[in-house]
Amino acid sequence: MHHVAITGTGVFTPSQIITNDELVAAFNAYADRWNAENAAAIAAGTLAAKDHSSSEFILAASGIENRYVLDKEGILDPARMYPRLPGRRDDDPSYMAEIGVDAANKALAQAGVAAEDVDLILCAASNMERAYPAIAVEIQALIGAGGFAYDMNVACSSATFGIQTAADMIRAGSIKRALVINPEICSAHLEWRDRDCHFIFGDVATATLLERDEPLAKPRFKVLSTRCATQFSNNIRNNNGYLRRTHDQMEDRRDMQFMQNGRKVFKEVLPMVSAHIETHLAETGVAADDLKRLWLHQANKTMNDYIGKKVLGRTPEPGEQPNILQDYANTSSAGSIIAFAQHSADMVPGDRGLICSFGAGYSVGSVILERA
Ligand code: COA
Repeated sequence: MHHVAITGTGVFTPSQIITNDELVAAFNAYADRWNAENAAAIAAGTLAAKDHSSSEFILAASGIENRYVLDKEGILDPARMYPRLPGRRDDDPSYMAEIGVDAANKALAQAGVAAEDVDLILCAASNMERAYPAIAVEIQALIGAGGFAYDMNVACSSATFGIQTAADMIRAGSIKRALVINPEICSAHLEWRDRDCHFIFGDVATATLLERDEPLAKPRFKVLSTRCATQFSNNIRNNNGYLRRTHDQMEDRRDMQFMQNGRKVFKEVLPMVSAHIETHLAETGVAADDLKRLWLHQANKTMNDYIGKKVLGRTPEPGEQPNILQDYANTSSAGSIIAFAQHSADMVPGDRGLICSFGAGYSVGSVILERA
């Protein structure tokens, strides 16, 4: 069996930022319009008025301060509340491929690897822009990679599950190099008019380059072990799929966007994730005390604080469990990879860390790494 290492990561960050205050101003303007339009029904008691959102609530409930998006204007237009991303012509790159290519090229440059030497591209994300051809095959053509490519979706755990898939192929010898790319345009599956969740997501793309460690002579993170688990739940769900045109009233169906029962997710996912990490560490022979860093899924600060404390058996020191969600919000599968990409350069040979994602499915994926 071959050894595997991560030799490069890349992050594409959109140029447009929405602060909590800007978001709340747009939401409240939308709510006021809606309440005015429905004043008679609200007065008659047949409709409930929409409450205002608040920046204080968003920060306290989630830890989120800003989010990057591909189109700010459409989202903040109270008459629209949805990004303006005009459909791409068949001969133009898809949005997901475009931002995925940016992240992929950064990962390749960091590792000093030419695109033509990549054997596998996985486009692993929560939603795909189209059914087929795979976005991954489009990215393969755009960067000039060899081998083969395909899309996969495990919602928020798409990156870690993709890393395990790629690592297993490298371990088995069927490929030597893989790019796992996570273009997450979350702004397009978020219902920005829903007060309970309008603040939670942002857009980004990440890429992770994995190589056969022969051993390599360059800085890298050895992949010591990977582990994936799933357990069915309806508490995070998006019913949009290729059968949607057979449904009645498809335009108005709230369930065609991201839905969650946030409180239940909190209660059910936290023990699942803590137990998963503890078992994975124990079975790999790595003590929690050996971990210099936890790069966790970036959905909620309280959730991460809880997991960090449970895994380490103490409150993590500043920097031990870096969060990026204050700047990026929840970016689905890309979140833990952004944290890893932006908070790992200072680690020295022998330092160990753990990437862990969790989300819809439910799913949880963990990757134990060692700096070399
Ligand atoms: N502004 C002001 N108040 C708001 C609000 C907003 N935007 N949204 C909700 N509230 C209010 C509610 O009305 C409710 O008030 P009440 O108690 O008087 O009824 C109160 O805040 C609590 O709402 P709740 O939805 O229970 O908030 P929460 O503290 O659970 O936080 C989440 C909400 C979504 C941030 C949190 O549940 C979460 O992050 N869950 C896990 C998410 C996760 O990991 N998901 C994975 C997705 S990939």
